[in-house]
Formats: sequence, structure tokens, C-alpha cells
Amino acid sequence: MGLKKGQLIDLEIAQIAFGGKGITRVDGFAVFVDQTVPQDRVTARIIKKKKNYAEARVVEMLQPSPLRVPALSPYSGVCGGCKWQFLGYEHQIAFKQQHVREAFEHIALMKDVPVHPTIGSEKVFGYRNKMEFSCATRRWRMPEEMGEGERPDEPALGLHVPGTFDKVLDIEACLLQPELGNRILSDVKRYMKASGLPMYGLRSHEGFWRFLVLRHSVAYDHWMVNIVTASEQRGAVQPLADMLVEKYPAVVSVVNNISARSASIAIGEYELLLAGQPVILERIGPFEFELSANSFFQTNTRGAHRLYETVKNYAGLQGSETVLDLYCGTGTIAIYLASAAKEVVGMEVVAGAVEDARRNCLRNGVDNCRFIVGDIRRTLPELDVRPDVLIIDPPRSGMHEDVVKQVMALAPERIVYVSCNPATMARDMLLLKEAYTVAEVQPVDMFPHTFHIEAVARLVKR
Ligand SMILES: C[S@@+](CC[C@H](N)C(=O)[O-])C[C@H]1O[C@@H](n2cnc3c(N)ncnc32)[C@H](O)[C@@H]1O
Repeated sequence: MGLKKGQLIDLEIAQIAFGGKGITRVDGFAVFVDQTVPQDRVTARIIKKKKNYAEARVVEMLQPSPLRVPALSPYSGVCGGCKWQFLGYEHQIAFKQQHVREAFEHIALMKDVPVHPTIGSEKVFGYRNKMEFSCATRRWRMPEEMGEGERPDEPALGLHVPGTFDKVLDIEACLLQPELGNRILSDVKRYMKASGLPMYGLRSHEGFWRFLVLRHSVAYDHWMVNIVTASEQRGAVQPLADMLVEKYPAVVSVVNNISARSASIAIGEYELLLAGQPVILERIGPFEFELSANSFFQTNTRGAHRLYETVKNYAGLQGSETVLDLYCGTGTIAIYLASAAKEVVGMEVVAGAVEDARRNCLRNGVDNCRFIVGDIRRTLPELDVRPDVLIIDPPRSGMHEDVVKQVMALAPERIVYVSCNPATMARDMLLLKEAYTVAEVQPVDMFPHTFHIEAVARLVKR
């Protein structure tokens, strides 16, 4: 059957593809339908037609799937923060397991790797320890407001419509962060709007208020508020900081990052401390970590504990091993494993993260970790030790091909590969399988209501 752009068609959704879209086949031809789940029956319009697939948008829901649950957030379906709220959590984690398994089958060409059921997130709402809200001069309207005609632009502080850089929904509350975060969001928004200073235009690159970044420590129930502005105007931000620490004893840190760069990144060229401390403390298991406004930390603290426990279990350390932790970030995995190893060597390209890692070692009395700053592709060949166990936790893009070759040359007995992207993980496994067997894979859900999944693979030398 020849599908045409603009055509209306009745479909029953068969599966969810990696990336979160519903998928079905029409005479063997793949059709992706956003915002749908298996067993939905819909009338959809074909909006894109390519050689191998088409994309369609729902025009009418004929019969909702029994896998659906009512979404709690009024922004569900419009906001990019969580696209899967309408899918029951048990189904979310089952699909995530399936996506990891499919990546191993189709990309790594490994048919019988045991992929365990996903370890779920202890909390499925209020689990995020960091939220970044963007300012915009013009709030993006919700679908039900779209027909209301011309209205003056209203400023926004909120979250993006998925896939857009300039469409910001004016969010009143985000259910992915703990409740106090929403009260802070609401106070900060009111203050910004009444300040007489403009929100930053995401196209014009003019204006003052840029981002609000909130960090929460689960262990201490402390908050850090980071206000990102385009210039330094202490008189404009100090009263806001004073109000927040006075009103909320849990707010122990208020900082102001100043970024004049046009890139939409909530990291300042420099930072002012407005109130309280410059860092907050957080714990994962028995270890304590210092978090500054811009330091990397897993966004689901309780999930990170489950993830690191899996890594520790898969590393199978006896106390005599030298461990190499590639892409070590702020050293959280290295510190988590240190007491079970002879030595842990971490490698990471961001110098500030390595400084955090060293400080975190001191704070936790860990004295058998050392860290090397550098791009792994160039630094790894200069390594002066032969590791028994390798931990690899690369960014979404996975490992560079040269790094895979260097890893094979190092030939450690065991590798524990941690990934937030099953596709690049499987691509790297395809290269590593020449020398390693993937013994098992454990998906760990760190991101409920999104299609994202973290997975840990245990590799043993053939
Ligand atoms: C997924 S994070 C891992 C963080 C850490 N293992 C943790 O659990 O907190 C990936 C890290 O790789 C680092 N990175 C990315 N490319 C790199 C490269 N070419 N060489 C070294 N480090 C790199 C990033 O800066 C980031 O800290």
C-alpha cells in the first residue's frame, strides 16, 4: 500500500520503538506515531514519508490502550520533561528491558545475552535531584489555548516543548522534582516577572534572566538555587536570594551564575555566592559528595545507589585488583569501589570534575584512588598500569573506535560497561565481542516517565 503525506489512516499500535514513539506496520512498512503506546487504536495523519518508514500524528484516539494510565501532570504530552507519563510504570520498565535486549540483538548481533528485568526507580515522581528551568520572553501556549487568537507575549519560566530551543512552557509545577522545588520555582518566577528586568530572548539574545537551576540533596533535604543571568547586577538578584533563605530553611545555598554567551547552557563564565554555602552535600550509600552548581552528578540519587551497587557486584572485586575507571566524572564510581580494590585509577577529560573527584576522596577518607585528566583516546595509551578490571561509563556517544582498540590491547580480565544509550553500548559490544563475552546485562531505570534507560553489562575475557 502506498502511503502518502497528508493521508488519514486508522492504525493499531504494535510496539514502542527506542526513542519512545509508538510503531506499527502497514503492509510491512514501518509507521511511527508519537504519543502512542501498544494497543492504542487511532486515526492518524501521515506527516512524513521516507523510503523506509513514515511518521504519523494522532488525529483521533479511537480506543485507548489498556497499558495507559491517567497522566498526573497537566503538561503531559506537550512538555519534553517526561513523555511517558501516560504509560503504566510496570510497562515502562518492561519496554526499557526490551529496548536494551533489541539493541543487543540487532546492533551487537548477540541473540542470547541475558538481559535481566529492569531494576525500577524507588520513586517514580519527585526523583530528580536537579532541574533546569529556562526563561523566555514569550510563553508557549498549551494546545487548549491555541485557538484563543492574538494575545500580548507573556514571559515564561519553565520547560521546553520537546525538540525545540525557543518554545518554553510556563510550568507551574514539575512532578519530577520534590514538592519544595515547585514552591521555589513559583516564588522565583513571581520575583522575576515583577523585577522590571526582562527575560532573556532565546532568539534575540537580549534580556537578563536566563535560567533557574535547582539541586536537591536527598540525604540532607537541602536545596541549592542557582540563578543564571546574562550580566552581573547584584542589586537585582540579592533580594531574591535573601527572600529564599529566609522563607525556606532547606535552601542552604543560593548562587548566581553569569553567562553572557549566546549558547543556551546554564553554566556561567563565573559564579557569585549570594547566600549560604557554595556547595551542598549528598550521599550515595556510605559516601558523601560535595556538589557545586556545575558539577556532574547522577540526577536520580536513589537510582544512582542501585546503579553503583550493580557495578560493584559485576566488578566482583576481591581486594587485590587494580581498577581503571574510564570516563570517571567526579569519581563517584571510583570512590564506591575503592574499599574493595587495591587501587582505582580514574580518567576524565573535564579538569573541574577531577578536582571534585580528588576532594571527594579526601572527604571520604579514600586514599587508594588517583585521577588522570585528559581525553581518553590520547591519555589511555600512556597509562602506566595494567588494570585487572575496567569500568567504562562513556557519554551518550559511546567509545571512540580507537579507544575500543586500546581497551582490547589492555586486555583486562573483566569489563563493566555502564551506558545511558543502549544503541551506542551495543555498537561498542559488537567491536568488543572479538575478545569478550557479554555474560549479562542489567538495565537500571534512573529516568521514570521517559524512554531513557541506563544499563550495565558484565564482560569477561574469552
Ligand atoms: C556518563 S558520564 C560518567 C560519570 C561518572 N561515571 C558518574 O557516574 O558520575 C561520562 C563522563 O565522560 C567524560 N568524557 C566525555 N568524553 C571524554 C573523553 N573523550 N575523554 C575523557 N572523558 C570524557 C564526561 O566529561 C563525563 O564526565
